[in-house]
Amino acid sequence: MGGRIAVILVTGSTAQEWLALAPEGVNVRYFTSCGSTNALAVEEGAAGLSKPTWFVAGNQTSGRGRRGKTWASEPGNLYCSYLFRPPVKIAELVTLPYLVSLAIRDVFLALGCKEDEVRCKWPNDVLINEKKSSGILIESSAASGRDTDFVVVGIGLNLVCFPNSAQFPATSVKDEIGGQPDIGSAFKILSHGLQRRLKEWNPADVSHMISEWRDCAWGMGLRREIRTAEKSFSATLLGISDQGGLRLRLDDGSETNLYAGDVFGPPPAH
Ligand code: BTN
Repeated sequence: MGGRIAVILVTGSTAQEWLALAPEGVNVRYFTSCGSTNALAVEEGAAGLSKPTWFVAGNQTSGRGRRGKTWASEPGNLYCSYLFRPPVKIAELVTLPYLVSLAIRDVFLALGCKEDEVRCKWPNDVLINEKKSSGILIESSAASGRDTDFVVVGIGLNLVCFPNSAQFPATSVKDEIGGQPDIGSAFKILSHGLQRRLKEWNPADVSHMISEWRDCAWGMGLRREIRTAEKSFSATLLGISDQGGLRLRLDDGSETNLYAGDVFGPPPAH
């Protein structure tokens, strides 16, 4: 049995109920439990599944986070991945995290969070009251040349619980506004909102989307700790460039754009 992961696909009326929550023309596969919805979606994408499909799970036993981390996936939160085939170049996917963050923000607002409490943290975190409340993991596969074959947008929404070990303070919708957020409602708002934003998405002109993201950005004007794959340093967050890079002022006064990395809280005092 070692290494085998239970994948429990739900069929029948529950599957129909989940399908009814998604936009028309989009399929939904619901699993009470699986290893990772991203892993399932990537597998199906590689196998040639052409219909846009959401993979949703009640819990995940090997949830994937960014940078090779795991994503704790206790029951009660929303764990889902969207497999689709956008007709765009691989390089044009660079602004997709902004689109997805804004769609997640819409969900938190619809669930009752206040506008100024929900902020987007570069590159793709959504915070409620300055605490991480969701995760986005985008995986893609290139077709021939520079075209995209498929994209998987994996989303975890902290509706009722959150991991304590997070490197950045975390929270859940329940902890911030009380009540018992409904997973089905959250999925319905997310799947429809993401669909709408994807239809409007024009990778050649993202100025409107970047401007919307800037309006709810977290930490701008503040000195923060930055971590990339190579190093950690402190810098002041200046804004987002029109190409989607994080504009930074380094401590020596020079300015630079960052395209990969993470932002943390105030740098440690020396
Ligand atoms: C992050 O590290 O912030 C990204 C976490 C992404 C987690 C979601 S949960 C649904 C989907 N399936 C996965 O295995 N990961 C993503």
